[in-house]
Amino acid sequence: MTQEQWIAVDDYITDLFVPPDPALEGALQSTIDADLPRINVAPNQGKLLHILALSHGVKRILELGTLAGYSTIWLARALPPDGKLISLEAEPKHAEVARANLDRAGLTDRVEVRLGPALETLPKLAAEGQEPFDLVFIDADKTNAAEYFSWALKLTRRGSLIVTDNVVRNGAVIDADSTDENVQGIRRFNAALALEPRVKATVIQIVGSKGYDGLAIALVIAD
Ligand code: SAH
Ligand code: DHB
Ligand code: MG
Repeated sequence: MTQEQWIAVDDYITDLFVPPDPALEGALQSTIDADLPRINVAPNQGKLLHILALSHGVKRILELGTLAGYSTIWLARALPPDGKLISLEAEPKHAEVARANLDRAGLTDRVEVRLGPALETLPKLAAEGQEPFDLVFIDADKTNAAEYFSWALKLTRRGSLIVTDNVVRNGAVIDADSTDENVQGIRRFNAALALEPRVKATVIQIVGSKGYDGLAIALVIAD
């Protein structure tokens, strides 16, 4: 199996299951135009996030790592009119591009992009006494993934979902001696997730247009 084949099959899946959509395509184009990293979730993964949020009756979403707002659009579109999504982004340029994309998608009433390192914004959200989030999507830097999970637990309730991207890293995640700090960050995250009694969790490997990686899904089972 080759990367070329994974891309071809992802294209086939996307053609079948993800109809053309100006807001989503605009967000993808904006990453090219603004020279942002092209590391948004793939269209079929975006749709998975959308389905998870819809099927779970999610009204409040917290996202870590906005980039151009591509995954944000998928998630926010699953919200009811009185729903709310807060997305945390450290890079001013990314936040600016994302806000424009969310505006074009007609989602500004439901979505707030908060600028700043997530580890600074998360304690503020807790201090504000935000209502618990029903779904958290962790997709910012990988080094702090375990800390993000710990905050996600504080900011959710029994029944919430915590979904984390990039937990397999081309298989590098099984190398305990890896010198890659992203890999070590994800290893700490996966270990914390596995040991956490307040969640039921699993990890699924994914191949596709983004290469070989994986997604962790956790259901919070305690308050
Ligand atoms: N969720 C997006 C992709 C996010 S890429 C999508 O699928 O469309 C990761 C993002 O996390 C980048 O925009 C990066 O700037 C941001 N990021 C990196 N470190 C961060 C931090 N400490 N706090 C918040 N955001 C961070
Ligand atoms: C990277 C980050 C992501 O969120 C992703 O989905 C793929 C790659 C990265 O930082 O390399
Ligand atoms: Mg990611």
